Amino acid sequence: MRGYFGKTTTLAAALMASASMAQAADVEVLHWWTSGGEAAALNVLKDDLSGQDIGWQDMPVAGGGGTQAMTVLRARVTSGNPPTAVQMLGFDITDWAKQDALANLNEIAEEGNWNEVIPAALQKFATYDGQWVSAPVNVHSTNWVWANKAIMDELGLSEPQTWDEFTAALQAAEDAGYTALAHGGQAWQEATFFDAVVLSVGGPEFYQASMIDLDPEALGSDQMKEVFDRMGTLRGYVDDNFSGRDWNLATAMVINKEAAFQLMGDWAKGEFLNAGKVPGEDFLCFRFPGSQDQVTFNSDQFAMFAQGDSVSDEQAALAKAIMSPGFQIAFNKVKGSVPARTDLDAGELDACGQKAYEDFKAAASSGNLYGSMGHGHANPASVKNAMYDVITAHFNGEYDSETAVEELVLAVELSQ
Ligand code: GAL
Repeated sequence: MRGYFGKTTTLAAALMASASMAQAADVEVLHWWTSGGEAAALNVLKDDLSGQDIGWQDMPVAGGGGTQAMTVLRARVTSGNPPTAVQMLGFDITDWAKQDALANLNEIAEEGNWNEVIPAALQKFATYDGQWVSAPVNVHSTNWVWANKAIMDELGLSEPQTWDEFTAALQAAEDAGYTALAHGGQAWQEATFFDAVVLSVGGPEFYQASMIDLDPEALGSDQMKEVFDRMGTLRGYVDDNFSGRDWNLATAMVINKEAAFQLMGDWAKGEFLNAGKVPGEDFLCFRFPGSQDQVTFNSDQFAMFAQGDSVSDEQAALAKAIMSPGFQIAFNKVKGSVPARTDLDAGELDACGQKAYEDFKAAASSGNLYGSMGHGHANPASVKNAMYDVITAHFNGEYDSETAVEELVLAVELSQ
């Protein structure tokens, strides 16, 4: 298991390295897929393109959740040298589309029947003003718990169904000398907890009101105080060295039987698989207790930056490759996500993947599918980052729960 090699990637270095080395028939792809599992998944895409004689100029900017990648992107666009294709999430796509920066993919979308095979929840971000602006590669969801099965068996633990059962399981793991909760202290990782905890405290209506509609009453409610109290409880089960740890290193703690649980999106599964672990045998995945019927989702998409009037051949090839049924299965099996297309046979996915695909489709049709706040699918980056600041400050003991609630209301108000 390796950490993010890009830890050393400073903005200046990234800009210099990329000072357009891309050749005419290359795609230059800016992304943040640098962990072992992520890189393995990306190779599926690279191989697909190299089979079509299209070169790949890699532009990795490490940092889970893509915050650093978006900073580098802004700098590249400002300097008049946007990459050909960029991994992006939710409202970031909309923000760039509003600025008229993205290439129009309508012709390719029509040819590939994207309107029919991509669910409305993803089209909301992949289209802008009637125009397809990105190609969705997957659907991830964030409200998962990853568990080391050997530890659970050893301690006689079964899948916790409620918050109380979950905290009892965390306590049992701690009492037995394990790190109960593997965590990396980075704002986006704490925000990933928050997605699940908000759902588990107040259910889907509360998630909708507070995280999506930004209703000040919901944001300032007693339920929100309970959310922060639970975040504090979770904080109590994290080891002393959590600060700044990359998410994949936290996953490694569960893989290596140092830690019992991790709360993380299903990109964590890519790390387990990359380490040769088998779902159901070596590790378990279950929805965060109290959010079993809901899915907080995010979808990685590739947007093409307009370079002249039309989409270049390489951009078109990339978009088509991303959307092909064979690629969507092959890639998502490795990545831990599920296909963005809803017309594929789930039989090829592993147990966790099949559950995720069914959960996703069921949640989409029953109104239980919610954009992840932590991963840019609930609100634009300005609001997301304002929430990150408060959540992280509270997690690190800067605010008690009451103050955190007040700060959250204020931060959200000021960020809009
Ligand atoms: C998410 C992204 C995933 C994974 C994760 C950690 O935002 O959707 O694909 O890369 O960050 O890096």
